[in-house]
Amino acid sequence: MVVSSVTVRVPAKINLQLAVGPLRADGYHGLVTVFHAISLFDDVTVATAAADSVSVGGEGAAHVPADDDNLALRAVRALRAAAAQAGPGVAVTIKKRIPVAAGLAGGSADAAAALVACNELWGAGLPVRELCEVAAGVGSDVAFAVLGGTAVGRGRGERLSPALVSPARYHWVLAFANGSLSTPEVYGTLDRLRSAEGAGTAAAEGGAPELSTELMSALRAGDPERLGRSLGNDLQAPAISLFPALRKTLAAGREFGALGALVSGSGPTCFFLARGASHATDLAVALSGAGVCRSVARAVGPAPGATVIER
Ligand code: C5P
Repeated sequence: MVVSSVTVRVPAKINLQLAVGPLRADGYHGLVTVFHAISLFDDVTVATAAADSVSVGGEGAAHVPADDDNLALRAVRALRAAAAQAGPGVAVTIKKRIPVAAGLAGGSADAAAALVACNELWGAGLPVRELCEVAAGVGSDVAFAVLGGTAVGRGRGERLSPALVSPARYHWVLAFANGSLSTPEVYGTLDRLRSAEGAGTAAAEGGAPELSTELMSALRAGDPERLGRSLGNDLQAPAISLFPALRKTLAAGREFGALGALVSGSGPTCFFLARGASHATDLAVALSGAGVCRSVARAVGPAPGATVIER
């Protein structure tokens, strides 16, 4: 059967842990992170066309570049260069639900979806491992969006290993902010905060980041109380310093009984761990009534990675 279009559904991610090391010579920071995919999805359709193009609709679409800089188009070109079998052009259509520049890796998700979709459209047949290699060249978070689930990321986040976790499902509440944060600016602010803390301290030196054994043990046990207590993000302090309103958002979630409250990635989205489904609903209602964010959403995790839903 000749396939002329393929649609892939791809999840947002949160970082249950994000430990950031010192700035490297290549402009990136070495890190250890625990990625967790959640049930907030973009849909990306690729269709055979004479030339590459992209169009974006839905949540925050106006803020996504619809030119050659678009990460999904960069992914298409990277796969074309890597695959023996590739088509001359694709029209990429992105339906966004994941907010843009929110710390949820929405752009990376779209790039991962484009890779999986074109691999199918072209019958290129790259195995997941090779797709992840291409993904790593497109952006730090792209390979994880191909895999989904819960995984440990090292390097600049692109070197993935599966996390040994219980089959537990977790109930999350997301608080979307009024505004966005630039990832490079948040990393730069972390470097400045650390050097202001004084040379010689472990933080200023940015010692090698380490995986939290407590967090991994909570995930193995499937224990939400322990998981909530062991969430951590080195980018939270710089994100709050650039976006002080987040302090209030996090405090409100804790006050309403969240087991854990954290800025997601480089922010400004905050996420909260609920005790279960009905607590998640209560927490979402309370946060939305407190006026501490633009809007709220519920999600469960872990969610699967980029998946073909239509062809
Ligand atoms: O890889 P990606 O394009 O998503 O990264 C965006 C920017 O975020 C990088 O240019 C860099 O400034 C910063 N970054 C970093 N260390 C990482 C990941 C991203 O400094 N591990």
